[in-house]
Amino acid sequence: MCAKKVTKAPAEVDTTGHEWDGIQEFNNPLPRWWVWVFYATIIWGIWYTIAYPAWPLIHGATQGYLGQDTRADVAAEIKTFDDANAEIKAKLVATDLDAIKGDEALANYAQRAGAAVFKTNCAQCHGAGAAGVQSLGYPNLRDDDWLWGGTMEDIHLTVMHGIRNTTDPDARYSEMPKFGVDELLEPAQIGEVVEYVLSLSGQKDLDAAKVSAGMTVFVDNCAACHMEDGSGDRAQGAPSLADQIWLYGSTREAVAESVTYARFGVMPDWNERLGEDQIRAVSYYVHGLGGGE
Ligand code: HEC
Ligand code: HEC
Repeated sequence: MCAKKVTKAPAEVDTTGHEWDGIQEFNNPLPRWWVWVFYATIIWGIWYTIAYPAWPLIHGATQGYLGQDTRADVAAEIKTFDDANAEIKAKLVATDLDAIKGDEALANYAQRAGAAVFKTNCAQCHGAGAAGVQSLGYPNLRDDDWLWGGTMEDIHLTVMHGIRNTTDPDARYSEMPKFGVDELLEPAQIGEVVEYVLSLSGQKDLDAAKVSAGMTVFVDNCAACHMEDGSGDRAQGAPSLADQIWLYGSTREAVAESVTYARFGVMPDWNERLGEDQIRAVSYYVHGLGGGE
């Protein structure tokens, strides 16, 4: 189809009467084909709002006579995948935690499913690459240094119940005293023990007198959790202070802040939000990242 040619000479065509700076607007009829397309879109538009969910009501919206429902479509699609994986999921839940590695198909599934669970649920704190965020105390899960233990069983327990949360009574729990805020130590003693802590990981440029005074403070106040040599205690989630890996930072300021205020890092429990198969999969994934034990 093509627009009907305007054969009249411009002078014979009526104008709309509009005029701007001497420019007039002709009143040519719209091309026929254009008008029909225009009517067709109106009819199609009305049909569409009747056929598909469209008009908002107070609660919800009109459903449309075709009964189309994208939510149901998604649910059906998810169910198809769930059904396809039902067998391997059941096997994952039934297999001994340490035996997953030995079953190639199961290990492959756990690895892929675990990576997906991690991206959705863990990456916002631990980072997409699981390297953590030091300033916030979200630990790096890629190293082989574990606060609470790095066996499959340890990691599974950490993920399942979380750490220091108020939602799961079985969460891992410990509490470092707030030595500064609660005035358990004098500011001078804090300065000394901080200097001593820095010396444990071999830092340079320290005040030797403070280091030796700090040692006594450490043995009296800190060794119960961090051990006399500063190597930490996994049973209490007390980090090693004698290595180069820091949860909150290795600077004098960061260490002083840890001692003055204590940190109390919280991780949610996942047993309410994730199924056992998902918890196992993500534990397997994390175990693999950190050169698991
Ligand atoms: C809201 C933030 C947050 C989210 C989300 C989160 N974590 Fe954590 N996670 C933490 C914090 C904080 C710690 C360290 C707590 C501490 O100081 O002991 C931690 C510790 C851990 C540990 C112990 C590491 C060690 O060295 O022992 C593991 C394992 C872990 N998280 C796995 C996960 C997994 C898997 C997920 C997702 C299912 C997840 N986390 C989601 C905040 C989070
Ligand atoms: C009751 C056990 C306990 C005692 C006592 C304790 N701590 Fe801690 N400490 C912890 C725990 C648990 C953490 C992990 C941080 C958290 O609370 O999230 C920690 C963290 C730290 C950190 C941060 C380490 C890092 O990697 O960033 C420093 C530094 C530290 N403690 C120093 C000390 C010093 C110095 C003392 C003694 C004056 C002390 N702690 C006494 C349990 C303890």
